[in-house]
Amino acid sequence: MMLSSILLLITCLQVISGSDFAFTFDANKNKCTATASTSSDRNHTHIILSNNTVLLEELLNATRQNAQAIKEIKSMINGGHNSCEAINDILLLVEELIMLHNDSSSFSPIPSSCQEIKNKQPNSPSGVYLLETATNGTQYIYCNMEELCGSGGGWTRLAYLNMTDSTENCPSGFRLYQSGGVRACGRVTSSEGSCVSVEFPSNGISYSQVCGRVVGYQFASPDAVDNIINGPESHNDINSYYVDGVSITRGSPRQHVWTLMAGVSGGFSTTEYPYNCPCSTGSLQSSKIQSFVGNDYYCESGAGNTWTHIFYPSDPLWDGQGCGSIETACCNVPGIPWFHRDYGNTTTTDYLELRVCANQDTGDEDTPVAFYEIYVK
Ligand SMILES: *[C@@H]1O[C@H](CO)[C@@H](O)[C@H](O)[C@H]1NC(C)=O
Ligand SMILES: *[C@@H]1O[C@H](CO)[C@@H](O)[C@H](O)[C@H]1NC(C)=O
Ligand SMILES: *[C@@H]1O[C@H](CO)[C@@H](O)[C@H](O)[C@H]1NC(C)=O
Ligand SMILES: *[C@@H]1O[C@H](CO)[C@@H](O)[C@H](O)[C@H]1NC(C)=O
Ligand SMILES: *[C@@H]1O[C@H](CO)[C@@H](O)[C@H](O)[C@H]1NC(C)=O
Ligand SMILES: *[C@@H]1O[C@H](CO)[C@@H](O)[C@H](O)[C@H]1NC(C)=O
Ligand SMILES: *[C@@H]1O[C@H](CO)[C@@H](O)[C@H](O)[C@H]1NC(C)=O
Repeated sequence: MMLSSILLLITCLQVISGSDFAFTFDANKNKCTATASTSSDRNHTHIILSNNTVLLEELLNATRQNAQAIKEIKSMINGGHNSCEAINDILLLVEELIMLHNDSSSFSPIPSSCQEIKNKQPNSPSGVYLLETATNGTQYIYCNMEELCGSGGGWTRLAYLNMTDSTENCPSGFRLYQSGGVRACGRVTSSEGSCVSVEFPSNGISYSQVCGRVVGYQFASPDAVDNIINGPESHNDINSYYVDGVSITRGSPRQHVWTLMAGVSGGFSTTEYPYNCPCSTGSLQSSKIQSFVGNDYYCESGAGNTWTHIFYPSDPLWDGQGCGSIETACCNVPGIPWFHRDYGNTTTTDYLELRVCANQDTGDEDTPVAFYEIYVK
């Protein structure tokens, strides 16, 4: 009971460090809602203080060291300041108390993963929580508490990009595309095959499952895993540009998690045509899928029956929608757009890495990404 109230309070603590929060307080429902004004990373965070008095009393019972702070909190409670401002002030004090408590007993009430919060408080909403990470101190991290990938809630988000939000920038080293109302992040200009990469540290959070999704766009003529241009060296090398699309791996040396391929066309088909998705009808690429990829891939095209050297803004890739006439099977797979890896009883703290790759120059092909979110638990 005591621990669970601290967890509830920690839900609130998340809001105090960000100056980009706006608070609204619904006195009838005793509900404080914090809305992020600048960073969509923070999104909406709902804080429910069902009975402040009880919660704080329990907390005070756990942290009797600081008489002055307790006095101040009590006077605030007694003053009946049922406003977000007062809650904010109280939480600042509570944070100090938690720190003191931690120092004196070496017991950290701060949870170390979203799964832990979900286990202790099954009704916790999705939102940004303060987590005590194994290797990188306390961090504000988004927890998705909904059912994802058919495997329950309590997911810790390691990676997030939402380029629809005009305040978001491409990851360092990526190049911004702006076309047809879409903002997306692709390879830096290159006259040959290349990848751009972004890494997402786990901060020591241990996990055995990865669940995520990526939305990209087709530029010009990506060829999925065709290897006519570059031959077997890069094609069979997970460290190279083995795909025209997105490679998601974990750790070093890289271990494959998921591959998101872009085929050149969703409608054009002749028996000799080698550039369409491996999952499309009559594809010549099914034998070209690397053994380290296996079935762990999605492939779509953004172009219809023909293609040219343009950006295709109207059919996002890897959303499982808008597959052309020959690639129906590519969209018709369970789980899409979410990809899911379950490592069973094996846990890891590997960082995740997302690379946008292609084996020809950037004038010929690219698959810039506009959105991704990757969770672990
Ligand atoms: C916040 O996140 C939820 C779930 O991911 C989403 O439905 C909602 O649109 C987001 N709101 C904003 C303002 O970004
Ligand atoms: C809050 O808790 C106190 C102490 O247990 C109780 O007397 C009071 O009725 C509670 N208030 C609400 C609104 O539940
Ligand atoms: C706090 O501690 C006092 C004395 O031990 C006890 O009577 C009271 O019930 C506790 N309050 C809560 C909310 O646990
Ligand atoms: C809590 O205590 C542990 C062990 O002393 C320490 O590593 C950690 O940084 C402390 N956390 C906070 C929030 O002070
Ligand atoms: C992405 O950002 C836009 C603009 O802020 C927002 O409307 C949308 O809900 C976000 N999408 C997701 C999936 O978070
Ligand atoms: C520690 O966390 C910060 C963000 O709070 C991040 O920028 C940094 O990369 C992390 N360091 C490691 C070693 O994971
Ligand atoms: C995973 O662990 C459970 C419980 O320890 C055990 O019953 C199960 O056989 C294990 N599964 C695998 C694939 O090792």
